[in-house]
Amino acid sequence: MSFGKKIRMSRIFRGEPARTVMLALDHGMALGPMKGIERPRELLNSVGKYVDSIMLNKGILTNCGDPSLGAGVVLRISGASTIAGPDLTAERITTTLESAIRLGADAVAVSIFVGTPNEHASIEALSLLADECDRFGIPLLAVTALGKDREKGFDPRYLALAVRVAAEMGADMIKTYFCEDGFEKVIESAAGIPVVIAGGPKMDNDISVLETAQKAVKSGCRGVDMGRNVWQNEDPIAMLKALRAIIHENASAKDALLQYWK
Ligand code: 5RP
Repeated sequence: MSFGKKIRMSRIFRGEPARTVMLALDHGMALGPMKGIERPRELLNSVGKYVDSIMLNKGILTNCGDPSLGAGVVLRISGASTIAGPDLTAERITTTLESAIRLGADAVAVSIFVGTPNEHASIEALSLLADECDRFGIPLLAVTALGKDREKGFDPRYLALAVRVAAEMGADMIKTYFCEDGFEKVIESAAGIPVVIAGGPKMDNDISVLETAQKAVKSGCRGVDMGRNVWQNEDPIAMLKALRAIIHENASAKDALLQYWK
């Protein structure tokens, strides 16, 4: 990995061992102003200091982000399809690397849609982008996305396939979903490339979110890149503090819950 990539990775993965609490708020590009991200500026101002990194699109970064935020910036540069359109998985690259670097991004993120009619286009885009990212020294996060077929997110064989594809194509970090059985195999399939997990739809209770993070970290995951389970929580700051305790201090889910929800 080049020196430039290493510096940028260190702004995302922090501490020892290097892990990340990444806040995902890129959802609006496809799903609109969901509950919890109606006012991104206020959200970023209130939770910004409790995250290591943020994952978002350029418009929200430049209009709602404070340049002194201090969090690593993972700029999503794929999208261009919405929930109202014919196919959420038909993404395109939406921002050039030149723009991403000018905007101060520490990494860029694109989705791949393994197992859909768009797998070919999305994997090819990832692979070609990986070459460009090497040229510019900017890390690339591959998001192994599900589209509308959420069931695949529980299948370790599917997740391991998608993660390995991302690793083979040159991703520097990979985002996947946690599965109860066989998650170690999913991590192993990344061949040493750092893996973070999405949270998925809001869970019914806080302890489930924290247990997911704890089990994922225990399996070798390098952090979370969660959205809805943070900003749809009644207390996003408590959730972030609890996630930090698990990810950076190896706290148990139960202890983190007891500490931050009084
Ligand atoms: C979807 C994404 C989202 O950022 C990701 O799903 C994380 O958010 P959540 O924790 O709400 O699932 O990249 O492709």
